Amino acid sequence: MSDDSLTFHPSGPLRGRIRVPGDKSVSHRALLLNLLADGPARIRNLLAGEDVLSTMAAVRALGAQVVQDGDDWIVHPPAALQEPGDVLDCGNSGTTMRLLSGILAAQPFFSVLTGDDSLRARPMARIVEPLRAHGAMVLGRREGARAPLAIRGGGLQPIGADLPVASAQLKSALLLAGLQVGARVREPGRSRDHTERMLQRMGVQLSQDDQGWWNLTPHEGPLQALDVDVPGDLSSAAFWLVAGAIVPGSDLELAGVGINPTRTGVLDALQKMGAPVQCTPIDAAGAEPQADLRIRSCALQGCTIDGDLALRCLDELPVLAIAAAFAEGTTRIRDAAELRVKESDRIATVASGLRSMGIEVHEVDDGMDIVGGMPAGPVIIEAGGDHRIAMAFAVAGLRAPGSVRIEGAHSVATSYPAFLDHLKALGGM
Ligand code: S3P
Repeated sequence: MSDDSLTFHPSGPLRGRIRVPGDKSVSHRALLLNLLADGPARIRNLLAGEDVLSTMAAVRALGAQVVQDGDDWIVHPPAALQEPGDVLDCGNSGTTMRLLSGILAAQPFFSVLTGDDSLRARPMARIVEPLRAHGAMVLGRREGARAPLAIRGGGLQPIGADLPVASAQLKSALLLAGLQVGARVREPGRSRDHTERMLQRMGVQLSQDDQGWWNLTPHEGPLQALDVDVPGDLSSAAFWLVAGAIVPGSDLELAGVGINPTRTGVLDALQKMGAPVQCTPIDAAGAEPQADLRIRSCALQGCTIDGDLALRCLDELPVLAIAAAFAEGTTRIRDAAELRVKESDRIATVASGLRSMGIEVHEVDDGMDIVGGMPAGPVIIEAGGDHRIAMAFAVAGLRAPGSVRIEGAHSVATSYPAFLDHLKALGGM
């Protein structure tokens, strides 16, 4: 057994109430947007996972001071961004690399962005091409399709982009690139809108017209500093929602979870599968709505997840596939081709993991059909450095007869360093 493996066994009922870590997308943006602000800002419940720490290191390298104050973090932005003295290492984080590319394309200096093996294999042409088309100098491997990326920014023209793919990272990068010069951006589906909500609260004139275009008016000077209360991450909560549904006798509560409507597909998908997810909205200051969630174990049925629903639960599809594997009947996942270019090819990694547990899976380009049953171990799952694959199969291991050993389990620290502590707190280990 390697040092980086963990083995999961069938668990007794999961019970109790936990607070999942802060939302990863909101945490990145709280740091990056306050880097561009006119004064210090306090961030509560920031996710201190590896992805966000990569963003924090970059924000510091660009001249901000980021200091801890009890459980909070304070960002002190520089008067003007500084040229970084070294390469910016985005680690495993696509959000760091793509949003930073947008910010740096507007800065009159040189910077280089790199990342780990997974990030250097992910598509970057989608961001490099529109930035080049609007005047930024961007070089990268394979003609700019892969990182490392080298950027000499400044001198941009107003951004206008009808995006070929619904991607919040891409949309956010272009809006950030266009802060001083203006931007018009449209995407073919509605991806998460955390950047738009935050920019509006920081004094930027930004609105969406009835043709779906986001119109950003050129903004003079820095943004207004914004204190951010980061909600709990629904993508992290999703592991417990599925675990609670499939482990017999479970009844668990998740406090203060973000329920931005662009993210709540996992709740709708679980409800479609027959899971009794209770969602009780709570009063929360700030741009993001929050709720307490409760799940009890239940029998699940297969369902179809496609179109807008698939987009609204894209990051949760690996763990929803685990739910599908324990459900009665077939679950059909479509319109999820973007899963192939995440931290791993998540269609391939989920399909091969489930097959090795005896489940019938038919892969298609943009999804898969999963014939439900009772996945079983003993099995070894190669998480391939992908945090969501590691945690999804850990959840399978809490129910499957036999054991599930996850190789590459360290990757949970990318988004959920306290995953095992929370599993213990719920009585699952
Ligand atoms: C994210 C956007 C999504 C998501 C990723 C986080 C973000 O990616 O999968 O985990 O914070 O903007 P895409 O923008 O590539 O769809």
